[in-house]
Amino acid sequence: MSRPRQRLVRFALAVVAGLLLAVAIDVLRVGGPGLWLARHGLPPPYLPRGERITVGEGAFYLDCRGEGAPTVVLEAGAGGGAGSWSAVLDEIAATTRTCAYDRAGLGSSDPRGRRSLAEAAADLRRLLDTAGERPPFVLVGHSLGGAYARVFASDHRADTRAVVLLDSFEPDLETSLIHPLLGDLRPEYEARLDGLRGHGRRLGSPRLDRLREAASVVVDRRHPGRRAGRPAIRAAPRRGDEPGDCGRVGAWAAGAFARQRDVRVRVGIRARDPRRPTGPGRPARATRGRRGPRRTSSAGGRAGGHRPDILDPMDRWQTIVEPFRIHSVEPIHLSTVAERDRALRAAGWNLFNLHARDVLIDLLTDSGTGAMSRDQWAAIQHGDESYAGSPSWYAFLESVQALFPFRHVIPTHQGRAAEKILFSTIGGPGRVIPNNTHFDTTRANVEFSGAEAVDLVIPEGRVPSALHPFKGNLDVAALERLLAARGDDVPVVFVTITNNFGGGQPVSLGNLHAVRAVCDRYAKPLFLDACRFAENAWFIREREPGQSGRPIPEIVREIASLADGMTMSAKKDGLANIGGWLAMNDDVLAEQCRNILILTEGFVTYGGLAGRDLEAIAQGLREVVDEDYLRYRIRSTAYLGEALDAAGIPVVKPFGGHAIYLDARALLPHVPPLAYPGQALAVALYREGGIRGCEIGTVMFGRRPDGREEPAAMDLVRLAIPRRTYTQSHIDYVIEVVRWVAERAGELRGLRIVQQPAVLRHFGARFEPLP
Ligand code: F0G
Repeated sequence: MSRPRQRLVRFALAVVAGLLLAVAIDVLRVGGPGLWLARHGLPPPYLPRGERITVGEGAFYLDCRGEGAPTVVLEAGAGGGAGSWSAVLDEIAATTRTCAYDRAGLGSSDPRGRRSLAEAAADLRRLLDTAGERPPFVLVGHSLGGAYARVFASDHRADTRAVVLLDSFEPDLETSLIHPLLGDLRPEYEARLDGLRGHGRRLGSPRLDRLREAASVVVDRRHPGRRAGRPAIRAAPRRGDEPGDCGRVGAWAAGAFARQRDVRVRVGIRARDPRRPTGPGRPARATRGRRGPRRTSSAGGRAGGHRPDILDPMDRWQTIVEPFRIHSVEPIHLSTVAERDRALRAAGWNLFNLHARDVLIDLLTDSGTGAMSRDQWAAIQHGDESYAGSPSWYAFLESVQALFPFRHVIPTHQGRAAEKILFSTIGGPGRVIPNNTHFDTTRANVEFSGAEAVDLVIPEGRVPSALHPFKGNLDVAALERLLAARGDDVPVVFVTITNNFGGGQPVSLGNLHAVRAVCDRYAKPLFLDACRFAENAWFIREREPGQSGRPIPEIVREIASLADGMTMSAKKDGLANIGGWLAMNDDVLAEQCRNILILTEGFVTYGGLAGRDLEAIAQGLREVVDEDYLRYRIRSTAYLGEALDAAGIPVVKPFGGHAIYLDARALLPHVPPLAYPGQALAVALYREGGIRGCEIGTVMFGRRPDGREEPAAMDLVRLAIPRRTYTQSHIDYVIEVVRWVAERAGELRGLRIVQQPAVLRHFGARFEPLP
């Protein structure tokens, strides 16, 4: 090295040494390295005190500190791990048990291949359990970690006290605003959003009133350059603010925090606020019945205040409050296992053959089995039984056209009668009818006419475990291919909303627009099988970007505006026990259909219905688009699904609107499809608990038109929930029975068919258990 160069190096070293000395003096002056870093707005270094814990095939790094409950679990943002919580870890741990960890493949944790949010949540739970970390948990998620935290909370609801989101996705964010950071995880997160949203609200504001009594989560922001002590929570957008009190607002703290290291999260145990008038663990009832938005003053009213203005009344509470009370009761016979064994034998192990008196909870179908309202029964008294031109017909017509303004409405006694009339008019040999998925009667009516029924649901719709917010969507590219190849043979394109056999999965407005565009290009009419249109509209409102908060009737009318006609079973979203209709704009087709109607159903102003039935439907259509009703309907279905899912029972996800589908093939892997695992499971649920579900699998679809037996695509058991009929405790009973049976699934045997009818064999087949 040259001399001048050596001098330069020496000089540089001296400067560095001088600087280090100055820093060292400063560190000593302020009282230690931690304080020095904090003073300069820097996080302290992370001093690892955790260990690697083996869970299944690999090990995770987990660092838990402090004592007490709840256990705070810190989920870092993208690419981060335990180390990124160094600024707050010890501080939180000073008040309660606190755990930071590295997700799979990060930091000191072993990689585990691609993990879904749900798998990551399951990993974390196993890690915590293995390490002996005990619930209740408070999940704190930063940025992407918020998505993990919420899915964990959703899957371990009973054990989660609160979720704190720091600079993460807001709970009621529209899917279009979800951060691209989610990357591959986005479809799963979107699909979960509905459940998470309801869940989030419960854990968020309302439950936190209760939480305040056990634990409060406080988030401050340390922000150099701002006035000291200014609480970050003030910056949380849209939520109003209650300074420093994450207990009500900051659980959804979002958007304002630039970096997690700027954030202090403190979780502490708080005594119950003496000013609160209500009993322990009980949210204040005084505010419950009041209507309209209420605001609590942010500073003064903090102690006992609520933030009910954020929430709809139903969302404030964990319990699903049915938006009705019981007006007339129907007794249920609480049968015994011995009675049910006898009933099964007599029924040839086919649940369709049972006497309904021997069924305790009947989840065979949601069709025509719902409870009618007081106003529907009152409307029935107005039923006018004139053969032609009854006022009840006009009430019906007006109610149908208010939602589906098609020119021609043809009343039928139920959905399949509408199908029969339509397909005997436009079906026939050589014709092909595409649909997302044909319901069984739809398929049977298409095939009976000699035509071919083709299912074109998107690929996700065929996989029980696949997550997609609109799993009922029709595969537009496949439709286009079919029309390009066989356009002349296609008289109509059908879309079923919601897609019953895909698990009651919704179809998006976007998909309907896209299907419409393809139909326009090929000049094909688009028809809806609209049995569950209101449930579908609710999902659109909840899940589709830009639709949030839109009135349900408006969404329904937009759906209708995209179609040229529809078939309908009023036994579902007509909230009636019988009825249906066929509707269309095409005058010529309507004329042909009416001719058949008169032959098979009745005169054009009553179809197969009595005047009183028409009245019940007219009123039912007004009630079914009510938001309180739909919220309850979709929440209570999800409630069943969430509980079964949390118990590790394989269910079709995301949860549809009218039913929960158990994946019998996954639960009974030892029963081959041709020994009907779905039937075996359905029979077991009936035997053990008197619950009647419905096999949707190889019994229903396994026989090909040429008589061959083939496994169906899936073997499911549908637990369909009649509308407004069972209470939450009935559903709790169902959960208990399904769990009991699932725990003993290994002992279940398959069945064989000993007798079967030629069509729709599942209705009449007789079985025998295999030895
Ligand atoms: N389309 C769909 C999508 C259906 O779910 C049903 C009936 C029909 C058409 C036929 O209507 O029963 O009035 O003749 N589904 C019931 C069920 C039977 O249990 O899912 P229908």
